[in-house]
Amino acid sequence: MSAQGDKLVNRHGEPLRALVIGASSGIGASTAQALAESGARVVGAARRTQRIDELEGVVPVACDVGDPEECERAVAEAVEVLGGLDALIYAAGTTGITPLHTTGHEAWTEFFATNLFGAALVSRAALPHLQAATSDGRAIFLTSDSAVKPYPGLVVYGASKAALSAFCQGLSAECPTLQVTEVMVGPTIDTEVGDHFDMEVFGYWFDRWSAEGYLRYDYQLATDVAAVLLEVVRADKPDPMVLAAGNEV
Ligand SMILES: NC(=O)c1ccc[n+]([C@@H]2O[C@H](COP(=O)([O-])OP(=O)(O)OC[C@H]3O[C@@H](n4cnc5c(N)ncnc54)[C@H](OP(=O)(O)O)[C@@H]3O)[C@@H](O)[C@H]2O)c1
Repeated sequence: MSAQGDKLVNRHGEPLRALVIGASSGIGASTAQALAESGARVVGAARRTQRIDELEGVVPVACDVGDPEECERAVAEAVEVLGGLDALIYAAGTTGITPLHTTGHEAWTEFFATNLFGAALVSRAALPHLQAATSDGRAIFLTSDSAVKPYPGLVVYGASKAALSAFCQGLSAECPTLQVTEVMVGPTIDTEVGDHFDMEVFGYWFDRWSAEGYLRYDYQLATDVAAVLLEVVRADKPDPMVLAAGNEV
């Protein structure tokens, strides 16, 4: 990757070709938009494609990452639109309050399907394109500060992000020509991640997180995380793990 002025170009001097999974809201939408505004050619994937349609310069592709065939098809469509792929950014994710004594197989499967299995299946489909001689070969995954210190009440989510972190390390080891980056995200307020939380239940756990030292970073905005992701995409050799979080509190 190199930059011509502020324009994002790949190492052949062509506009960077990027696929953002989870581009319909929050961090993924901000990132897709920021990439397009920086001159990249961008495909955004998610279930709510009409939301991606509203992002200028981002081509929407439908994908439910819980469906293995849709993961393959979305990557194939993106590669067709872009004529190859330089950067895959996996921003899809789901969370929810899931106390361990009430959480069964269905919830565990749902969280891991979106946060881990989808990442693995999209990566598998993208690998031949990212490893092509014409590609910059970048794969970027969003984990969470809860991957290293799972918040009580969010252990299923934290465990899925810890598994995604291990996946990033394994992908990098297995495919040394790829530039794999885990971006560990801290609390980010203007996204839809908590929209379905029951506020009373959330309040109970939030008080515990505050009292027990889980809230370690100031809040940030989705555009702050997008700016970090753009720095990662611009860097010649990004660190394998990058923190995108507000100031430590
Ligand atoms: N916000 C935070 O405080 C925070 C902190 C740490 C890490 N993160 C991580 O950052 C990433 C982005 O989160 P966000 O806060 O921006 O949340 P968000 O606004 O809820 O965005 C989540 C995105 O994931 C997509 N998604 C969810 N399930 C999907 C599925 N089955 N198939 C395809 N796409 C799916 C959603 O699209 P559709 O619903 O349209 O499919 C949406 O575009 C997630 O991985 C999250 O875990 C967030």
